[in-house]
Amino acid sequence: MYICLEGIDGSGKSTQILLLEKWLSDYGYEVLRIFEPTNSSTGKLIREILKDPRATNDNFQKTLALLFAADRMVLMDTIEAAEEAGKAIISDRCFYSSIAYQNPQGVQNSKQRLDSDASWLYELNKFIKKPDMVILLDLDVEKAISRCDGSDSFENKVFLEKIRNRYLELAKTNDFFVINANNGINKIHEDIKKAVSPKIGRCI
Ligand SMILES: Nc1ncnc2c1ncn2[C@@H]1O[C@H](COP(=O)(O)OP(=O)(O)OP(=O)(O)O)[C@@H](O)[C@H]1O
Ligand SMILES: [Mg+2]
Repeated sequence: MYICLEGIDGSGKSTQILLLEKWLSDYGYEVLRIFEPTNSSTGKLIREILKDPRATNDNFQKTLALLFAADRMVLMDTIEAAEEAGKAIISDRCFYSSIAYQNPQGVQNSKQRLDSDASWLYELNKFIKKPDMVILLDLDVEKAISRCDGSDSFENKVFLEKIRNRYLELAKTNDFFVINANNGINKIHEDIKKAVSPKIGRCI
C-alpha cells in the first residue's frame, strides 16, 4: 500500500503522516516514510531554490519541475524495495505536487487547457510510480499561511489560493480522498484512519 498525503504548505501533512505511521506501526505494519524534496543532493538544491523570492515565477517553476522529477526518480528504487518487502509506504507529497505547483496558470483556464498545459509534466513523470491512495488535506489559505514559518516564497496568499484550487480540480479527476484540514489534529487523524481502513482491510 502506497499512500501519499498532499496539500498546500502548512496544511498538516507532516503532522498527520507521523500519526498515520504510528497507527499503521501499532497494527504491525512495517512502514517506509518518504518525503519530497528528498535528502538527496537534488533535493537539497530544490530546498535552496524554494527560498528564492523568484521561486514562484514561471521559469523557476519549470526548473523546479525538472529537478523534482529527477529527485523523485531517485526514490523509485527505495519504493520498489519496500513494496517487495511488503511494507506500507507513506509519502509526504508525490508527483501530484508538481502537477499542482508547477502548473500555476492551469487554474485560470478551462479544464481542457489545464490538462494540455500540464501534459509535459505528466510526460516528465511517466516513469514515476503512482500512489495507490492520495489523501488531500484541504485547508483555507489564510489558515495555512498563519501556520507556515514564512521561509519559502510559495507561502503567499495569491499563489497558494491557485494551488489549493488546482488540488481540488485534481482531486475530482484522480479520485483523491479530500479531508477538511481546518479541523483539529485529532479529528483529521480520525478522518484519515477512516479513509485508510477499508484499503488495508481493517476496522478502526
Ligand atoms: N489541525 C491543525 N490545527 C492546528 N495546527 C496544526 C494542525 N495541523 C498541523 N498544525 C500545525 O501547523 C504547522 C504546519 O503543520 P505541518 O508542518 O504538519 O504542515 P505541512 O503540510 O507538513 O507543511 P509544509 O508543506 O510546509 O511541510 C505546524 O506547526 C503544526 O503543528
Ligand atoms: Mg511538512
